[in-house]
Amino acid sequence: MDKNPKQWLSTAAIECRARAHAPYSKFQVGAALLTASGEIFAGCNVENASYGLTICAERVAIGTAVAAGHKQIVAVAVASSGGHSPCGACRQVLSEFGPAMEVILIDADDPTKTRTTTLAALLPEQFSSDAL
Ligand code: THU
Repeated sequence: MDKNPKQWLSTAAIECRARAHAPYSKFQVGAALLTASGEIFAGCNVENASYGLTICAERVAIGTAVAAGHKQIVAVAVASSGGHSPCGACRQVLSEFGPAMEVILIDADDPTKTRTTTLAALLPEQFSSDAL
């Protein structure tokens, strides 16, 4: 049976997680975005010896999608050990490109424990362009 877009999204997040550069925290994260046009863009966390310059997987994925010309995101899948939700900074950055996006949280140790929520639930009253 063919995979549906959400399944492809989860696979992309899990695969990209394996390419994380996380030698300091050892906490690998993969994120994959589904655009309104049906394309998928992935990212992994990229740590740095200076620690503070670390970029989260979600923001790497956003940069990749935007650089390819995509600014409407309908879903994000995030894969990590334990299936944790995006940090506050990433929630805000994700909201710029899809405040109503679905958020799929994958436990990379046991993908059967995947759960789904929404960015609106994770980040109510986000700061948006409406304020400017
Ligand atoms: N990390 C992400 O990639 N996304 C998040 O939403 C939270 C944290 C990364 C940053 C760092 O490389 C590692 O996880 C531990 O904080």
